[in-house]
Amino acid sequence: MKNLLIFTFFILFIFSVNSTYYPGYTLSNVKQTSAGFTGDLAMISAGPYGDDIATLKLLVNYQTNNRLRVKIYDPNNQRWEVPGVSIVENSNVMPSDMDYDVTYTTNPFGLKIVRKSDQEVLFDTTPIENKLNGLIFEDQYIEISTQLEQDPLIFGIGERTSNFTLKHNQDYTLYARGDYHGFMTNWYGSHPVYYQLGKTTGKFHSVFLLNSNAMDVSLTDNSLTYKTIGGILDFFIFTGGSLDETTQQYTEVIGKPIRVPYWTLGWHQCRWGWKSIDFVEGVVDSYKKYSLPLDTVWADIDYMDQYKDFTLDPVNYATDKVQTFVSKLHTNDMHYIMIVDPAIKVEKGYEAYDLGNEMNVWTLNPSNIPFWGIVWPGTTYFPDFTHPNTTSYWTTNLKKFHDLVDYDSLWIDMNEPANFVEVCSDNQTNYPYTPGKICLDQHTVSLDSKHYISTAYNLHNLYGYTETVATRAALNDILPGKRTLVLSRSTFAGHGRHGQHWLGDNYSTWESMKESIAGILNMGLFGVSMVGADICGFQKDTTEELCTRWMQLGSFYPFSRNHNAFNSKSQLPYIFSEQMTNISRSFLMNRYSLLPYFYTLYESSSRTGSPMWRAMMYDYPKDSFTWNLDKQFMVGDSLMVLPMLEPSKLGVEGYFPNDNWYDWWSGKQIMEKLNNQDHGLHIEMLAPIDTIPVNIKGGSIIPTQIPALTSAESRQNPFELTVALDPLNKASGWLYADDGESIEVTNKFSEITFAVANNVLKSTIVASNYDPLSQTHLSKITVLGVKSINSVTVNGKEATFEFDAKFNILRIENISLDLNQEFTVQWN
Ligand code: NOJ
Repeated sequence: MKNLLIFTFFILFIFSVNSTYYPGYTLSNVKQTSAGFTGDLAMISAGPYGDDIATLKLLVNYQTNNRLRVKIYDPNNQRWEVPGVSIVENSNVMPSDMDYDVTYTTNPFGLKIVRKSDQEVLFDTTPIENKLNGLIFEDQYIEISTQLEQDPLIFGIGERTSNFTLKHNQDYTLYARGDYHGFMTNWYGSHPVYYQLGKTTGKFHSVFLLNSNAMDVSLTDNSLTYKTIGGILDFFIFTGGSLDETTQQYTEVIGKPIRVPYWTLGWHQCRWGWKSIDFVEGVVDSYKKYSLPLDTVWADIDYMDQYKDFTLDPVNYATDKVQTFVSKLHTNDMHYIMIVDPAIKVEKGYEAYDLGNEMNVWTLNPSNIPFWGIVWPGTTYFPDFTHPNTTSYWTTNLKKFHDLVDYDSLWIDMNEPANFVEVCSDNQTNYPYTPGKICLDQHTVSLDSKHYISTAYNLHNLYGYTETVATRAALNDILPGKRTLVLSRSTFAGHGRHGQHWLGDNYSTWESMKESIAGILNMGLFGVSMVGADICGFQKDTTEELCTRWMQLGSFYPFSRNHNAFNSKSQLPYIFSEQMTNISRSFLMNRYSLLPYFYTLYESSSRTGSPMWRAMMYDYPKDSFTWNLDKQFMVGDSLMVLPMLEPSKLGVEGYFPNDNWYDWWSGKQIMEKLNNQDHGLHIEMLAPIDTIPVNIKGGSIIPTQIPALTSAESRQNPFELTVALDPLNKASGWLYADDGESIEVTNKFSEITFAVANNVLKSTIVASNYDPLSQTHLSKITVLGVKSINSVTVNGKEATFEFDAKFNILRIENISLDLNQEFTVQWN
């Protein structure tokens, strides 16, 4: 009986705690500004954790026709605000044709933003009594909710491994952390942005909260609640439209993906545990021996002397040997990328340490002595990348190191920042509200540490970002005018305009391989286009079958690198069997033939911010069958890849949205667009071990080049075009080309668009300033979906052709067209 009473009280207690309702604030003194309005917020209900801020300021700024900013801050005390990430200013001019309406309630305060053109609700903070709280604004806890349509389709809010379409009734924590705690838990980076697809309108929109503090984002069946432990509320709300319009609007605020060198789209081989440079040399030789393409060799921490940055192990990575190795790589058009960790070994006489002391660059603990941690080299200090001296400190070290080894780019790891020191046990929380219910100080720099511009409490999620910015500045100084990669493990919103990313320490498992798809799609939404996962898996031992399937999938990653942990079995693509080597070769060669397409896609991405990889729903938002697909994806909007994600299977089922689709490998038509149908077809495709289904969408034109063993060599080979006709016998595509390495490309690039209509393929020159393109002629055109044919003319002259009447494929070979000149090809 006593137990029953206690239980009843417990349940009542839980219920009363959960049901506490906070109406929040009232709004008064609303004043119009030249582009928006301001208002005063006064607290009506104190929040749960104390230190409430009784009066706040609301600022609504109409910035463009499709973007507005909503800022809620303490007008009396300057709180932490994230510097440098947003690259747009507040506007003083009313946009001419805003596609949004903003309304508000005053008591309690709520703000509602609706897309004007179709009345879709984009953001609605109106409290619902006893159901949805109003605003809570305390010193260490800020909460605000938005109502959502029932069963909303929400994406983004990373970084973590999860399904692409986010599950409801789940907290998503944003807090950078170096070690993996399982599916759905927070990981290396923080991107407080979500995208929503309106189920009836078929339109996307997006909301970005510019806040770097640790936070939870709770998603239910009809609401989304932010719970952050600091800073202010600084929202950018985008009216969106298509996925491309939405990502473009978001990346106008955080910046577009920075251009990458052409060679970085080639194949990369890496591993942790390469004992010596001799061994690495052997790897490069084997690549050659097996005729496998290779553009870049990576150096993990093995190269360092006692794991100290900017040093070489004198025995296994002797300077002269490394130098000879790198210069040989360069002679053969290959590249070398080296890892650098932020933590610097505490050791008198070690130059990087002594210089750090001299320049005062360390992150400090509350009593102003350097905060120490333990990373690979032992006791270390952490450079504070917000200190005005640190970019110069970092550049000096990297420059000296570059004088020693002529590396081509950098890999920056362990920058959450990771620290092996265990300060609190699992499940211990340490703040009034602790996002993710995790110990925030665990395995990192303690949050009370001091950086030049604020505490780690505010800057933790920005550590990797600030290191990326400093590394980008250093590389621009070391290799002036040249594009480079800064592959960073930790990222924050805006990372893409400075660096690139890989998905970190995955496992050699089928699940990990599958999760890489959602991971890459997510990063695309975050404005990071150059992204990949460790192919064949990082931790644990891979198997031949898994590695084969992963090489196939990975050959379509934007960033395509095989990488492995030091204690796992080798997973070099030639190590397993002749069959596996051959399959790897054919998929890598296929990637190399597609490099012009990848490079053009990357160019689009860096101009507009739209991702290279596309979830199926991006181009078919009204087809509900696409909404939850994250086992297949599009590369650009032309190629659909159906990877094999399970062992021992010979077939894979894919969803083909309603369009014309052709097999990429054979050109055979797989599906013809169905009349008057909203949905397409689920089709079981053959996928024996040596292949996966890849399909080209009707309406596409894809430029390729005959592949070679490096991207530099491939670039000199003839071009080909594959044209896939849509139901109206139309198609279009484009090609972008430049030298692939200069930062500045003005007047140095070629840009050609291709279009097919009425049996005529025409090229149009937008720019023709990349001269080497004229040396690599277009030698073949393949047109898929041609029903019958009598003759072909090229620039008005009769040309020879082959016609495959069974599969409706027209092949026009023996041509030699300068892509820098307009041409016309006609078939009848
Ligand atoms: C952790 C990184 O995620 C991994 O890729 C790397 O191999 C190890 N650190 C060693 O540097």
